[in-house]
Amino acid sequence: MEWRVLTLFSVVVLDSVIARISYSIPEEMPRGSLVGYIAQDLGLEIKRFISGKARIYSRNTEEYMELNRERGVILVKERIDREALCAETTVCALDFQIILENPMEFYTVTVQITDINDNAPTFEKSEMTFRISESAVTETKFVLERAVDHDVEMNGVQRYELIPMDNFVLKVHNKADGNKNVEMVLQKPLDREKQEQINLVLTAVDGGEPQMSGTMQIFITVLDANDNAPVFTQKTYKATVTENSAIDTVVAAVTATDADEAPNSKITYSITNMQGNVRNIFKVNLENGDVSLLGNIDFEKNKRFQINIGATDDGGLTDFCELIVDVLDINDNKPEINIMSKSNVISEDAELNTVVTMINTEDRDSGENGNIKCYLNENVPFILKSSTENFYSLLTDSELDRERASEYNITVTCSDEGVPSLSSSVTLTLQISDVNDNAPVFERSSYEAYIVENNTPGLSIFTVKATDADWNQNARVSYILEDSSVNGVPVSSYVSVSADSGVIHAVRSFDYEQIKDFHFRIKAQDGGSPPLSNNVTVKILIQDQNDNPPQVLYPVQTGGSVVAEMVPRSADVGYLVTKVVAVDVDSGQNAWLSYKLQKATDRALFEVGLQNGEIRTIRQVTDKDAVKQRLTVIVEDNGQPSRSATVIVNVAVADSFPEVLSEFTDFPHDKEYNDNLTFYLVLALAVVSFLFITCLVVIISVKIYRWRQSRILYHSSLPVIPYYPPRYSDTLGTGTLPHVYNYEVCRTTDSRKSDNKFGGAGGQNVLIMDPSSTGTMQRIQSEKNILDEPDSPLEVS
Ligand SMILES: *[C@@H]1O[C@H](CO)[C@@H](O)[C@H](O)[C@H]1NC(C)=O
Ligand SMILES: *[C@@H]1O[C@H](CO)[C@@H](O)[C@H](O)[C@H]1NC(C)=O
Repeated sequence: MEWRVLTLFSVVVLDSVIARISYSIPEEMPRGSLVGYIAQDLGLEIKRFISGKARIYSRNTEEYMELNRERGVILVKERIDREALCAETTVCALDFQIILENPMEFYTVTVQITDINDNAPTFEKSEMTFRISESAVTETKFVLERAVDHDVEMNGVQRYELIPMDNFVLKVHNKADGNKNVEMVLQKPLDREKQEQINLVLTAVDGGEPQMSGTMQIFITVLDANDNAPVFTQKTYKATVTENSAIDTVVAAVTATDADEAPNSKITYSITNMQGNVRNIFKVNLENGDVSLLGNIDFEKNKRFQINIGATDDGGLTDFCELIVDVLDINDNKPEINIMSKSNVISEDAELNTVVTMINTEDRDSGENGNIKCYLNENVPFILKSSTENFYSLLTDSELDRERASEYNITVTCSDEGVPSLSSSVTLTLQISDVNDNAPVFERSSYEAYIVENNTPGLSIFTVKATDADWNQNARVSYILEDSSVNGVPVSSYVSVSADSGVIHAVRSFDYEQIKDFHFRIKAQDGGSPPLSNNVTVKILIQDQNDNPPQVLYPVQTGGSVVAEMVPRSADVGYLVTKVVAVDVDSGQNAWLSYKLQKATDRALFEVGLQNGEIRTIRQVTDKDAVKQRLTVIVEDNGQPSRSATVIVNVAVADSFPEVLSEFTDFPHDKEYNDNLTFYLVLALAVVSFLFITCLVVIISVKIYRWRQSRILYHSSLPVIPYYPPRYSDTLGTGTLPHVYNYEVCRTTDSRKSDNKFGGAGGQNVLIMDPSSTGTMQRIQSEKNILDEPDSPLEVS
């Protein structure tokens, strides 16, 4: 107030001359505040103010000031805001006049309004936003908004402050017009990755008392720049993959990160291997880094892969890593079997442990998957021996026999130990070659063959056959007739054998009546070296043919002589006249004889026993019957076709010899011869009588034997019953009459001279008249001469 009074005073003093009064008041004085003692300062009386009706005259300022006449003072009528009144004008004053009347006079008053710090600096906007790239270089300037302070001079904005000051400093430029340019200058580079958002506060301070300030927020968004390279999470990654995994199998995933923001952080992965086939086998997902299969993984080719992977961001910044992929083996390879050497043929006498084949095995898998075991199929006489690892020899394990098995299919199977196990096999065919170890063997232990007599020479009788289990030459059998003799003749004159075929041929025609059987040996020999042989006995049986007709032994048929049987007229029915005796040198049916009456003088008188050839009367002989009876008897054998012989039997029906003679006048006579003969006949009769006795004994015993045997034969059920004449037996089989043979009548004497008459004591009388002894009886003569008659001996004179 002191200062103001002084000022007023000085102003009053100054203006008193020119009647001008000046006052100075600060703005914002309350209503009624005293501005100045105007009356006093004008040197006027209060009365004058009142009488002169003093008043303020102003065109525009009356609302601010009022005049109190009674006190002679000027008061603040209205609060005065200097900023409103004068704005920037630095000297702010109100001019008005005081007007008085009676007399009229006026005075000019000036009231200067002084500034007080009643305004704080203010920013138009409470905040500013900047977007600044982190790559912005230092010293980059950013213009800030100025603050406004309506106060003037010292009360106006004096300075600015920026907080914090980490990255930016503030520069203020005073401009010529008195304004200030406020700038924010980058001092330290920004790093979005550290601080993406920076908030600053700009403060404007004035110089008033008290000091006032205004603030503004500055928001800075740090924009990303590609200032960071991608970084892999690991420098080396490890992964495993089983071989043969499917294409597109994900093996591993690599990851790189980029501290930048998108799009600067967008990473692209790639495989950077330049060599090898890695790029053909693996691929990496460009975006997510998954490494997957592009091709086949084969453990046997690559056990490990080293994959270089790069990660590149959009700005081209790159990092690298390594991915080691270990391949896991799986059992995908079969064992391989290689035959190093082999024989296709082995001799059947090969020794034990002969090496047949050598084998090498291989499995490309590793570990268990590559461990190989080999074995053979069953039932082969071979074994597999492992000499060293993966090498095997195939050896014979037991004796070979081509005849049992000529070929072996040996299957070698090799399996690995993988799970599941794989195996492969190879079949070797081994031929067993022949050794002559088998002799020919005949189909039978002995042979018997039949041949019908009278064969043509050269006829094949039958075939022997021998087989040889060996092969080819060793099995080529030749047949050889072994030397021996049959009845003192070399057997080769009987039969021959074909060396190749074993066919036995008859060399000659056989005669059953001479030889009934014989045997010999045939050797079968193979073509081996040395040859092996075997032999067999062959028995040839010759079969009878009906090639001999029956031969009549009695009655003897001669050309000249007449033999007549005597039948007394007193003979009863069934009287045995005589018996026709015939033999057949054949055998069996061929020698079974039957007798039939073919012709007879009187058929009603005689009959012939069909089987025994006995001629008997069948009715009483009467006187009317002719003396001379002639019977033709036919003897047939039972052969096919049958053969026969006929015999004429002369029967004399008479009681006395002369009677006979008279009838048989045509019988030839030979007196001289008969005389000579008589002696011999008597001699012979004596001999024959003796023999007859002997024969008789034998005959009886044989007859009993035969009878029994025939009984047995007849009772047997055989389809063909051989019949033998009761007194004929071919026991020796020689075709000749046996020694012990008996005929009911055997008469062989040279009876040329006999024209005698015979008188049998017991009944039968036989008359033989045979002037020319013929050969019909020669055969019998060569044998023992037997003359016998069952009932009465025959006498020839
Ligand atoms: C061996 O095999 C061959 C061909 O497969 C076959 O013809 C032959 O009969 C077989 N041999 C044996 C003894 O199994
Ligand atoms: C015939 O074979 C037998 C054994 O079957 C033998 O003992 C004999 O010596 C052989 N004979 C000849 C001549 O080979």
